Amino acid sequence: MKEKKYIIDEVEPNWVVCEPIAEYSKVSAQRVKQLYLFEEGIPQTDEHDIRIVELFAGVGGFRVGFERASEHFKTVWNNQWEPSTKRQDASIVYQHRFGSAGHSNEDISIVPVEEIPDSDILCGGFPCQDYSVATTLHNSKGIEGKKGVLWWQIQRILRDKGEKAPKYLVLENVDRLLGSPAKQRGRDFAIILASLSDLGYCVEWRVINAAEYGMPQRRRRTYIVAYHRTSSIAKQWEAEAEHPFNWIIEKSVLGNAFESKVSTKKNTQSDFIVEGDLVEVTENFNKSDNGKAASPFGNAGFMANRHVWSADVVPTYDGPCLTLGQIVLPEDQVQEEFFIPDTEMPKWTYLKGSKSEKRMSKEGYEYNYSEGSMTFPDALDKPSRTIITGEGGAGPSRFKHVIQTPSGRYRRLMPIELERLNMFPDNHTKGTTDIRRAFLMGNALVTGIVERIGIVLKERM
Ligand SMILES: C[S@@+](CC[C@H](N)C(=O)[O-])C[C@H]1O[C@@H](n2cnc3c(N)ncnc32)[C@H](O)[C@@H]1O
Repeated sequence: MKEKKYIIDEVEPNWVVCEPIAEYSKVSAQRVKQLYLFEEGIPQTDEHDIRIVELFAGVGGFRVGFERASEHFKTVWNNQWEPSTKRQDASIVYQHRFGSAGHSNEDISIVPVEEIPDSDILCGGFPCQDYSVATTLHNSKGIEGKKGVLWWQIQRILRDKGEKAPKYLVLENVDRLLGSPAKQRGRDFAIILASLSDLGYCVEWRVINAAEYGMPQRRRRTYIVAYHRTSSIAKQWEAEAEHPFNWIIEKSVLGNAFESKVSTKKNTQSDFIVEGDLVEVTENFNKSDNGKAASPFGNAGFMANRHVWSADVVPTYDGPCLTLGQIVLPEDQVQEEFFIPDTEMPKWTYLKGSKSEKRMSKEGYEYNYSEGSMTFPDALDKPSRTIITGEGGAGPSRFKHVIQTPSGRYRRLMPIELERLNMFPDNHTKGTTDIRRAFLMGNALVTGIVERIGIVLKERM
């Protein structure tokens, strides 16, 4: 039997961000207010518009961020497919919000490049995996990335598009990308840099904690902005090439969008060349006898023609800061199921608390287990902790947020509050279960980061 198409028939009339977030995003506040349901159909573009292709789209974090930064950013095609579940919640939410035209819900590995329209920017939050490369006789180029490793899908699209490849890339990944894998730290990122360099791109990266730029969630992610050597921003770099660290700190796209200075605690400015083909990078990059060499990549950097300049920077942002307390709903709007019954409190208190105890392994060995305490309840006068995919559901957990309400009761966060912590419009993910909504937010990004990148790109590209 053909699967019934899931339809969300209740259209949310007020698809806008809440006041504190609109206030924070003042630069584009007008645009924030305009973010009602998108019209059906692929957006029409003219020469003033910037066409975007969004891969690994989830529920559209890049799209929300970019399209809030300027009405000239237009997402012309997007792809989202979740391999682990039959029901495609993220794809359903995406189509509900932005329409089905230009949406692809297929494994990106089987999408022919000809089906992907040309664009100016390609963006996406690709999963962190092992990017190692081996030689193979089956491949005409003699090099093969592991099957199922999604980085190679980005590389395939850029390679096969040839001259029509997007001039700009904006990518997101976890912060440990810069230090992976544990036995050859930095190798995976070196492979990414080398493969982008070989395709003609200059690459900036920066680890950004959204809360350090006033956003309501402490979420650290690596952001990568790349531009083809024929692009305007690559030309801007060439004019500044004598001062690469100044470029990283101030003049690059990420430097421009996220004010910072060189860290005085860690003096790790360095420069080096990523040498060899991708197999050689796989085999040799940062190899040490005991496998313990630290990653050569600081939290900010730039690469052009395989030459890497790397630094450690600290934020110098001093603008408005959003807190968890500012985005939570008033107590009378919270459904009863989000309150923690008194009978459950001992379990939560135990899980959140510090412990040092003897535990038994599966194999029957006794071992000492210890961990420190978590702030409990979560502080309302600070940004939240990182939302993880398991944030939803009533079961007690060490990692789920718990806040105390003015009446003194304890409760979990509602899906709408998780959306706000990622700076999505309210009820963005409405239409699926609360547990899935939390999962989708645990996978998503803080859209305010993309908005800031978008504002700078729009001016400079
Ligand atoms: C880190 S999440 C990105 C979330 C997104 N930035 C957002 O704002 O919601 C990565 C996404 O890639 C999707 N994905 C994983 N494997 C995929 C594949 N083979 N093809 C297409 N999408 C895939 C996952 O379902 C997930 O939604």
